[in-house]
Amino acid sequence: MKNLTIFKTKKREVSKMKGKILVVMVVAIALLGAGVALAGISATKHNLSASGPGTVKANAGQQNDEICVYCHTPHFANTGFTGAPLWNKATPSATYTMYGTTIAGSTPDATPNGITKACLSCHDGVSALNSIVNQAGSGGVTAGGYNVAFGATAAGTAFTMPAGATNIGTNLADDHPVSITYTAGNASLKATSTTLTGWTGATTIANLLRNGKVECSSCHDPHTSTNGLFLRVSNSGSALCLGCHGK
Ligand code: HEC
Ligand code: HEC
Ligand code: HEC
Ligand code: HEC
Repeated sequence: MKNLTIFKTKKREVSKMKGKILVVMVVAIALLGAGVALAGISATKHNLSASGPGTVKANAGQQNDEICVYCHTPHFANTGFTGAPLWNKATPSATYTMYGTTIAGSTPDATPNGITKACLSCHDGVSALNSIVNQAGSGGVTAGGYNVAFGATAAGTAFTMPAGATNIGTNLADDHPVSITYTAGNASLKATSTTLTGWTGATTIANLLRNGKVECSSCHDPHTSTNGLFLRVSNSGSALCLGCHGK
């Protein structure tokens, strides 16, 4: 009788364990699926290699036929972009006009912070989009960046973002404030602990902030465009705006 009870208990424990293993496996498979869905930079306009899907990209036949190299490098990174990891581009020399004072009385930092500057190093319309500090392959290190051949532009010449919606310019006064501290309560901003559902790379508002501030990458993830326009969540129904603003 006693032995039978032990046997039954063990059997129950074994089946509980099996259940746990199943849950772990299901979660692992789900995460794997999510990983595959996120691993999509090659299909976006941020794949600047000659084989990228966009029109603004490198010329075919040159050595930099990689994707990450247009933004990151494993060595010789430009450390002038605090927060933009292992950045592989020249520091922009442009002067930017910041947003100015908001209704709540906040002011952005006097100059864009590293991550925002990283985006601007291609999107300000004046910085060389084609600058690379450490080119792919043996050697090819140019402190300050080397301009590789882009479109009809010869190597050694700066290629800048063509006019249009992706060229946001150096005047940031007409853009949502960036390099600005997130203060809950101002502009109906929610608590930073607020949970976000379905956002890329963030489960709370705190995850969107860089050093406590809103930067370009608060709303955009430069690696995936599954929501279109590299947005961290689809802005259908203004879901992106409502993630932070309790309006
Ligand atoms: C168009 C520019 C661009 C390209 C191309 C790019 N990245 Fe990034 N990457 C960024 C920026 C900007 C950040 C900082 C983003 C942030 O603040 O969330 C970043 C952050 C990262 C991070 C750290 C944050 C995180 O997501 O965990 C990793 C890792 C990374 N990139 C890997 C890669 C790899 C690998 C590739 C190539 C397959 C790549 N990136 C291509 C711009 C780029
Ligand atoms: C290495 C250069 C480079 C960097 C750095 C870069 N971009 Fe881009 N981005 C591009 C190019 C090139 C395009 C396509 C432009 C075009 O076709 O008009 C683009 C397109 C976009 C688009 C429009 C996508 C679409 O589908 O139309 C968005 C949004 C964008 N980038 C946001 C960002 C943000 C935010 C950052 C920083 C986190 C960033 N980019 C950093 C080069 C860059
Ligand atoms: C508060 C959120 C937010 C911030 C911060 C932000 N963006 Fe955007 N961005 C958006 C949204 C939303 C769209 C889509 C707008 C639309 O549909 O016209 C967009 C669109 C864009 C586009 C594509 C324009 C087009 O119509 O093709 C580019 C390029 C871009 N952003 C770059 C940047 C850069 C660079 C920064 C930092 C200087 C930045 N964004 C900061 C929310 C943001
Ligand atoms: C990552 C969080 C975040 C997201 C997402 C966000 N905002 Fe904001 N927004 C802020 C912060 C921070 C401020 C500055 C608040 C202050 O004045 O202190 C701000 C300010 C504003 C202001 C007031 C500017 C002023 O001059 O007073 C408006 C309007 C605004 N946002 C609209 C939007 C819209 C529209 C969207 C969606 C496209 C959006 N925001 C998405 C964080 C965010």
